[in-house]
Amino acid sequence: MSSNATSGHFYATTPIYYVNARPHLGHAYTTIVADALCRWRRLLGDDVHFLTGTDEHGLKIQQAADAAGKSPRDFVDSIAPLFAEAWERLDISNDDFIRTTEERHRIGVQRLLQACRDNGDIELDTYRGLYCVACEAYYVDDDLVDGNCPIHKRPVETVEEENYFFRLSRYGDRLLEWYEHHPGAIVPEHRMNEVIGFIKQGLLDFSISRTSFTWGIPLPWDERHVTYVWFDALANYITAIGYGRDDEAFASRWPVDYHLIGKDIIRFHCVYWPAMLMSAGIEPPKGWAVGGWLLVGGEKMSKTTGNVVNPLDLIDDIGVDGFRYYVLADTPYGADGDFTYEGLIGRYNSDLANNLGNLLSRVATVVGKKCGGIGPAPSPSSPLAAVATAAVDETIARWAEVQPSRALEATWQLIRATNAHLEANEPWKAEPGPDVDAVMGDALEALRIVAILASPAIPRTAQTVWERIGMPGRVDAQRLPGAGAWGGYPGGSTIDKGEPLFPRRQS
Ligand code: MSP
Repeated sequence: MSSNATSGHFYATTPIYYVNARPHLGHAYTTIVADALCRWRRLLGDDVHFLTGTDEHGLKIQQAADAAGKSPRDFVDSIAPLFAEAWERLDISNDDFIRTTEERHRIGVQRLLQACRDNGDIELDTYRGLYCVACEAYYVDDDLVDGNCPIHKRPVETVEEENYFFRLSRYGDRLLEWYEHHPGAIVPEHRMNEVIGFIKQGLLDFSISRTSFTWGIPLPWDERHVTYVWFDALANYITAIGYGRDDEAFASRWPVDYHLIGKDIIRFHCVYWPAMLMSAGIEPPKGWAVGGWLLVGGEKMSKTTGNVVNPLDLIDDIGVDGFRYYVLADTPYGADGDFTYEGLIGRYNSDLANNLGNLLSRVATVVGKKCGGIGPAPSPSSPLAAVATAAVDETIARWAEVQPSRALEATWQLIRATNAHLEANEPWKAEPGPDVDAVMGDALEALRIVAILASPAIPRTAQTVWERIGMPGRVDAQRLPGAGAWGGYPGGSTIDKGEPLFPRRQS
């Protein structure tokens, strides 16, 4: 495990999304994972800073603006708010939202460029080669698949430009040495091997400026050139927290604990970015958590492919938490997942309606009928106590590996065990009395712990469960591991049956 385990501060980022398209399921996926991780770290008591934002410069955006008949500025101003709104509707708890067209970002990017140049790593040269605008990346012949871009399956362009180059070739050994001293910095582990393999092949310098268009940040020493969009975009992770403007704020947050990224942008993040930082005399990130793609019909969702699923349509249908739970629980982070509507409904019905929803509803019903509607206290010697302790430990361990699906699986073990405990004891058939009270107190205590453990994934529902079982305040104000210890349910509170949490859905 890397050093980002328990620092007290926790800084995590999502990629910043290109504003050539509206937010789609693929963007929502990475953002929800990052959000749940940050919510989890707040539960652990960390001082969390969670950053997301939009990537607004470069040829791809300029072309999209042209196609929309707008100036680049008007175009990005019309799309960036759609991301901010989507994240609000998905209950994303970001502390900041950076747009690369902001002044604070320009200042930081120019400072970073200057620092790399002062260190002798940026030089003028002529570039001749292949370029994919959709990737905003150069390729060599060997990268192509049937002559096309390996990701977008579209023809690449041949370009020739006088550019400034970042001397990445000087950083191979330093990067290898750094990774050797930081095993576990990239999760899942096989992604680290991929990065090491790539570095060992030998690194080529990359061009960091363009003269063929103007939509970007000018180089501080040569205003005829605008900054290459990836150099510009990567810098968001430091410009947002004060680099170039507020050294103290910057030093208090950097290095980042985790960059959450998709597997398609690993080279930029795990090779280019740490080298750029080293050149500027800044520490590399502490960690990267690399996710797979959420595929639709076996293809990566993208505007280019045309198979775009709008997450906001799904939350109108299944609820915010139904959607969040599905994307977190259904695909192990790191692997590719296949989005299907049937899968979404299936997960919802089995895990949310039948397990969690049903548990709360039967507990509230029985407490209403047999305990006068007042929740009894749990018993210290309950058979569920050990199950709960194991669920808490396991959930903590899986989140530390950035494995939300496995963390949720661990939490759901407690829900299943509690339902099984009720079925074994059948309190609904028994006469009111101490035996029924004991079983119901234990079930309420399990629900209290479940509400805390599940709150990063399904924050609204967790709060509802918390309130219905009569707990005061906010579930997200609880602190683990203390609040997860068996016996925290005080007893004596009124239980509110309420409407079903997750009405069953027909697929
Ligand atoms: N702007 C760059 C990132 C710059 S970060 C300094 C970019 N933007 S993007 O909008 O195209 O994609 C951003 C992220 O979303 C990538 O990590 C990508 O993997 C992720 N996803 C886009 N589509 C996706 C899926 N269908 N599934 C999962 N993630 C996907 O790249």
